[in-house]
Amino acid sequence: MEIKIFDTYEQMGQFAADIIEETMKSKDKPILGFATGATPISTYNALIEKYREGKISFKSVTSFNLDEYCTIDRDDKNSYYTFMHENLFNHVDIDEKNVNVPCGNPENVVEYCKGYDNSIEKMGGVDVQILGIGRNGHIGFNEPSDSFTMGTYKVELTQSTIEANKIYFPNEDAMPRQAITMGIGTIMKAKKIILLANGESKAHAIHDMVKGDVSPKCPASVLQNHPNVVVILDKAAASLL
Ligand code: GLP
Repeated sequence: MEIKIFDTYEQMGQFAADIIEETMKSKDKPILGFATGATPISTYNALIEKYREGKISFKSVTSFNLDEYCTIDRDDKNSYYTFMHENLFNHVDIDEKNVNVPCGNPENVVEYCKGYDNSIEKMGGVDVQILGIGRNGHIGFNEPSDSFTMGTYKVELTQSTIEANKIYFPNEDAMPRQAITMGIGTIMKAKKIILLANGESKAHAIHDMVKGDVSPKCPASVLQNHPNVVVILDKAAASLL
């Protein structure tokens, strides 16, 4: 793992966007893996800026998002589909037909999840995957557990995640308890991974990810086994390293 520590959240986003720009320029049809949450917003802002400056175009990009909540509609203001449109897709020239955000409420979950993994594979795999990290070490919505789940699947969210994300919903009861997420195996197949974390609340998770054993108790620790990971942190998130 290559670890980069920055003074500001904006610098983190700029650095991540520079790596993504490089990938986009090196491929005719780049496949980008996107994440939601507060963490990647400065990266998305930097990408929008690069697009406005004419440095990059998303015309030939295909995107795959990590995850989506179950039980809410994709047009709900708290869906990850809406998040991606508001924070990136509506501001660049990506073709909507090349946008893939998992459906949170598929009729046949098993078939749907298999299909999501197959579509990624058919496109040749994700060139660069952006990740945030949960306070409990989750990536995507792969929560701490006794084993790693490899493919995309439906997951029960933990209380820690409900506590962290309920602020986005009108009340705790409105927060979905389940999600569809890329599995650990799906994430690990990405050719390059950029994991971003800022703030003290992520320091323990970052410590366990980098210094702990590779264990499904801290799902992000599996990234120690990936050959091409860049971890982009601020000083607070790096404070326990
Ligand atoms: C969410 C998402 C993750 C994200 C994480 C951290 O639940 N499923 O993909 O990385 O939690 O979110 P934030 O960046 O808001 O701290």
